[in-house]
This record gives sequence, C-alpha cells and structure tokens, in this order.
Amino acid sequence: MGKYDDRLKLAVVVAREAGSYLMEVLPQKRSIEKKGIVDIVTEADRHTEKMIFDIINKAFPDDQFLAEEGTSNPGDSAFTWVVDPLDGTTNYSHRFPVFCVSVALVKDGAPLVGCVYNPNLDECFTAHKGEGAYLNDEPIQVSDNDKLIESLLATGFPYDIRESEQDNMNNFYAFYKNGAQGVRRAGSAALDLAYTACGRFDGFWEMKLKPWDIAAGILLVEEAGGKVTNFTGDPVELATGEVLSSNGNIHSVMIEVLARAAKH
Ligand code: IPD
Ligand code: CA
Ligand code: CA
Repeated sequence: MGKYDDRLKLAVVVAREAGSYLMEVLPQKRSIEKKGIVDIVTEADRHTEKMIFDIINKAFPDDQFLAEEGTSNPGDSAFTWVVDPLDGTTNYSHRFPVFCVSVALVKDGAPLVGCVYNPNLDECFTAHKGEGAYLNDEPIQVSDNDKLIESLLATGFPYDIRESEQDNMNNFYAFYKNGAQGVRRAGSAALDLAYTACGRFDGFWEMKLKPWDIAAGILLVEEAGGKVTNFTGDPVELATGEVLSSNGNIHSVMIEVLARAAKH
C-alpha cells in the first residue's frame, strides 16, 4: 500500500472520466476559441476541467487545485492537484488522435502521484512516488538503449514560436544532425513523457512547458527508472518548464547536444 493510494485511485477515476467525455464529444464539439495566434481552447477543455475539479474537490476539499484553464482552489492542505484536462488540444480539435488527460498530486514542488490517460488507446499510465510506474496496471520501465543513433526522441515547440527567438528549432536541428535515429513532434508533452517512461521514446526535451503539462509525466519517467533534469542537468523545476527526460543512458549525450545547439 502506497502512502497516497487514495489520491492515486482518484486521479485514475477523474482522468478516465474526463477521457471518456473527450471521446464522446469529439465528433460534435468544434467550438474553438483562441488564446493566442495558434493557442486554442475548446469547450471540451473547460468542461473536463470542471468535471475533474468537482470530483476532486468533493473528495479532498482542502487540497489546492491548479489547472490550465484557470480553475483553482487555494485550499490549505499541503497538496496541490496539478491538472491538464486535455493535453494536445490542437490535435484534439483536428481529431488527430494524440491527446490525453494529465493529473498529478504535488507537494513542495515535487510530484507524488501522477496519471496520464490516453483515451484513444485506453492507456492509463500511473505512478506513485517510490512505488514504480505502470501502464494499465502492468509495471513499465524506460528503454535500455545507450546509443543516440539508435534513439527515438520526442520534442515540442512553444506556442510563441512566431514571436520568440528561443524557439527550439536549433535543438531540433542539432539532434537530427548529431545522431538521433529520429525525432517526433506529436503534440502532447504529457504523452511524450509517458512514452519515455514505457520505453517507446528514449528521450524527450522541451522548453517553456507549464506545470500541468509535465507534473505527472516527470514522476512516470522517474518511477520507470529514467532521468529528468533541465537542459544543463540540474534538477527540473515545474515552474520553469524546461525538461530533459531520458532513459538515463543517453542523458549526458543529450545534454551535450543541447549545449552545442545553444552556442549556435
Ligand atoms: C501543449 C502540448 C504540446 C506542447 C505545448 C503544450 P496543450 O499543451 O503539450 O505538445 O508542445 O507546449 O502547451 O495546449 O495542448 O494543453
Ligand atoms: Ca498541455
Ligand atoms: Ca491543455
């Protein structure tokens, strides 16, 4: 029995319920609102966030709540639920089936419980600090690959790519030119981390992410035996959103590639 089993069970319940709803309304709901030039929000983002909040708040009314679309509960417990009700909104709005629900429980800036649910494949990734990581209740591990040339990597690009010089293109180029077997940009950071945890990806990096994109996924990778830092190898901070995660074996070589890219 893990210390936070009751909260992990609830994380799975809310992620699955939200995921089912997303699938249900996928064909009809196409009402899209723009948050930025390309940053969008759908009715489904808002609806699922409220669904998740209502269930969690009923069970743990004192827990704090932080979520992408603004639902919050200051609460006075030491625990904060960090939730992305729909990670991969652009994919969702185009019916590209790569999106998920990400739910984490965080204390003192560290994730204790994480659930990433992909309703397209009915894949539920869970982790509990110190208790390992699971995919549909089967234990998962990161890959054991130690060669960058045999590595499948993942990344993503920030929404402000048009306005900012820090656009990740130099890193993307560097990984292709310096040896990775392939680099994917599928459009859901939470799934990129979950797929690193179960060995489908050997590594993932991205910058300017938000706590709700990464809180659950970071714990998945760590509990699956992988490594998560920022681009220079220092501890990752949820608030800064710069993430380098890997199976551990290729971590230092990924740091070298990122350092080389930063000089150009
Ligand atoms: C986005 C996805 C995407 C990543 C963006 C995120 P959203 O989240 O995780 O993969 O590249 O930086 O903002 O907006 O779909 O919830
Ligand atoms: Ca997100
Ligand atoms: Ca989102």
